[in-house]
Amino acid sequence: MAVEIRNYLEGFADRDAALKALLTVDESVFGEDFTDEEISSPAFGVVDDDRTFLAWDGDRPVGMSANFTLDVSVPGGTVPTAGVTFIGVLPTHRRRGVMSAMLDRLHQDGLQRGEPIAALWAAEPTIYPRFGYGVASKMLRLSIPRSFGTISGAPSDASIVLRMVDPADDFEATSEIYNAVRAGRSGMPAVDERWHARHVWDPASKRDGSGRLHTVLAESDAGVRGFLRYSVKPDWTSAHSDGTLNVQRMMATDAAAYAELWRFAINFDLMSKVGWWNAPSDDPIQVWLDQPRHATRQLEDQMYVRLLDLPRAVAARTYSAEVDVVIEVSDRHIPANAGRWRLTAGPRGATAERSTASADLNLDIRTLGAAYLGGPAIEEHAAAGWVTENTPGSVTALGLAFRTATAPHCPFVF
Ligand SMILES: CC(C)(COP(=O)(O)OP(=O)(O)OC[C@H]1O[C@@H](n2cnc3c(N)ncnc32)[C@H](O)[C@@H]1OP(=O)(O)O)[C@@H](O)C(=O)NCCC(=O)NCCS
Repeated sequence: MAVEIRNYLEGFADRDAALKALLTVDESVFGEDFTDEEISSPAFGVVDDDRTFLAWDGDRPVGMSANFTLDVSVPGGTVPTAGVTFIGVLPTHRRRGVMSAMLDRLHQDGLQRGEPIAALWAAEPTIYPRFGYGVASKMLRLSIPRSFGTISGAPSDASIVLRMVDPADDFEATSEIYNAVRAGRSGMPAVDERWHARHVWDPASKRDGSGRLHTVLAESDAGVRGFLRYSVKPDWTSAHSDGTLNVQRMMATDAAAYAELWRFAINFDLMSKVGWWNAPSDDPIQVWLDQPRHATRQLEDQMYVRLLDLPRAVAARTYSAEVDVVIEVSDRHIPANAGRWRLTAGPRGATAERSTASADLNLDIRTLGAAYLGGPAIEEHAAAGWVTENTPGSVTALGLAFRTATAPHCPFVF
């Protein structure tokens, strides 16, 4: 029997019943279990009813998929983004094209809404490059032992005061900082009250031995300058305490406030280390640490980006340098992007127009996705043999244009 993809509300009495069916598929796929109370929690308030789908085999849901409606920061502004999520197919229905059909549907949904790009976090990184996604940002999985955590050269400002607030009440203060940081770093989705409620939703059942979330603000007469959201996970050996302070999010508008928050995290009594599973790859702690080699730093692929509408996507950001090249693009899944484009880009924006001139570069759409937020993907993919340079110097020219001063970073999973 053919599998049919329908809006997830179809066939259910109400939203809670549809969400329950979706999360039943989720449980079979990811092994996550949700109580009824959790299903009606703010965690799922961000689910966009028009953009959430179930795949049906007869009268049984066998697959799930959804787009979140995101607005992601890029150099020079923000871009409406299809935030691909909830991808899963029951073990009984795998490897027969259900996910491929769902992804096509999600991409069409994004295109119809005028979203030039799609983005996702991949539970299984091998899957998405074949669908045109490139690794557009990288994150650091950090662990810093307190005994090697001195940052004696980091800036300090005696006027900074730290104040604890309840995470449930930190929206206004943290948004101010988040939005200021977002203006200078690409890859950050807008966070409204629904997303904030999801991020501070903190049931004991999901804490895995940690205490509850806390927020500390760094303030001075100038106002709020930074925030840290964290939890502590206590642990004891027979001889001493061995806990971990886990960072959920930390940002600041200036280096002194950021250093003050790092000092707070590193010097926390009874903790022997700071863990941050999703630190920006260019976090200044790496410069400040007196003994950086004692920090464990694992660089991991983070957000994947796919250009849905190439000319609109390239026009939606600005570029670090002027470039005028013809690129020949391959795109197996969205043929409208394939072929030859003249890309004229610079600090004021860009255009991509169809061209019959010979191509300076040949590349796949996933390379443009990987470069889109500002990372060094053009050069890296060229070195990896995935970009063909027909005109000498064109890799360097295009790479310089795409790069940004700060590393792209997405502060949360969606
Ligand atoms: C990943 C998953 C959604 C794939 O669904 P599916 O319906 O079996 O996928 P399809 O049949 O449409 O396969 C599409 C392509 O992806 C490949 N693929 C699918 N799952 C893969 C996996 N886990 N690893 C590597 N390749 C995979 C297929 O081989 C196929 O490749 P091709 O187009 O080159 O032939 C499904 O296996 C699943 O639910 N896995 C567990 C949850 C998960 O990992 N979700 C991804 C979260 S981001």
